[in-house]
Amino acid sequence: MYIKKLKLHNFRNYKSLNVTLTKGINIIYGENAQGKTNLLESIYVLGITKSHRNFIDNSLIKKGEEYLTIEGTFNDNSLDNKLNIYIDNKSKVLKYNNNAVKKISDYISIMNIIIFYPDDLELIKGSPQDRRKYINLEISQLYRNYFIAINEYNKILKLRNEYLKKMNKGISRDKSYLDILTGYLIDRSIFIYKMRDKFINKVNLYCSNIYKDIMNLDGFKVVYKPSIEFDINDSNIKEILKKQYDKRLEYDIKLSMTTFGPHKDDIEFYLNDKNLKYYGSQGQQKVAILSLKLSEVEIFKKYKQTTPILLLDDIFSELDDKKKNNLLKYINKDIQTIITTTDVNNLDSRLIKKSKLFKINDGNIIKIKEVKLDE
Ligand SMILES: Nc1ncnc2c1ncn2[C@@H]1O[C@H](COP(=O)(O)OP(=O)(O)OP(=O)(O)O)[C@@H](O)[C@H]1O
Ligand SMILES: [Mg+2]
Repeated sequence: MYIKKLKLHNFRNYKSLNVTLTKGINIIYGENAQGKTNLLESIYVLGITKSHRNFIDNSLIKKGEEYLTIEGTFNDNSLDNKLNIYIDNKSKVLKYNNNAVKKISDYISIMNIIIFYPDDLELIKGSPQDRRKYINLEISQLYRNYFIAINEYNKILKLRNEYLKKMNKGISRDKSYLDILTGYLIDRSIFIYKMRDKFINKVNLYCSNIYKDIMNLDGFKVVYKPSIEFDINDSNIKEILKKQYDKRLEYDIKLSMTTFGPHKDDIEFYLNDKNLKYYGSQGQQKVAILSLKLSEVEIFKKYKQTTPILLLDDIFSELDDKKKNNLLKYINKDIQTIITTTDVNNLDSRLIKKSKLFKINDGNIIKIKEVKLDE
């Protein structure tokens, strides 16, 4: 799929913007603080309904204005579709082909987006919570049911924790009610564990080759770390998990908290036996995340029969010339890619030749060069 037209109104430093993108490679260049990242962010918000940068929705509205709108026409398997988002201080309205969409689960799998941006290194360096949030979102773009399961899981978890608190205070003692909640929690957990395990396995089919192509190093892999060790495919998994909950019951009551489950999972990034969180250089970490994201492109192609839209914010900085060159192999016009850079003169001339070029200056966009699709 690819986004053809993007219209912004009051989005960050854009008063209004109306741009036609090419289905292949788009390069957006400009000096610092002109609006390059903001433009990518607007496309991300249009697809995912939230910023990738952990900002509250209000900060997306242009300073001094009361609302923002984003409109995008995107083409998926030869059909044009339209998405609209309206955000003000109190509300957010999502529309798909002019019909309001109430549930986010119905919305976020419509336009698929994979973004790479400088702060993505936090995926390796940051907290397990960031990583869980990330894989939840990625699997949700692939499978709507996963998003629903996560929401249900979180609701049941909240109820269970509230009940543990009551047990802790001696207000409630009915263990059979807790068992019912635990049973529901286990059902959702098994589904979530399996989906995460499958997803990471799929990533691993591609990521070590991609990492090797770029870094010339063998042995990169992503490891799924559920909070307890067990065989996800064991046919007795329900009983195994139930035993774990029972074993921890006193402890959970003491802390008024469910101390294990999918909400405590993590993923790790390894180069052979080295955990990149502790032993990776900046460049190694950067390419690890890039390899993860580029693997996802392959997964989307295979399981959604369409290509996602790839947003690459400032991807070439910090990489040496050799790595930059190796990376070019993964930027091709079969996948709509939108790249930002401050330094267009430093980009490979072959890449520029096959790209549509835009310059951004203080929230205004100027088309510099068209591209013919057969170039
Ligand atoms: N809500 C907002 N209203 C108005 N302007 C905003 C808002 N949020 C951010 N900005 C402005 O947008 C500009 C930053 O844009 P952006 O992050 O897209 O820059 P950039 O071109 O990616 O720069 P760099 O090359 O440094 O990454 C800043 O000038 C900032 O003040
Ligand atoms: Mg930027």
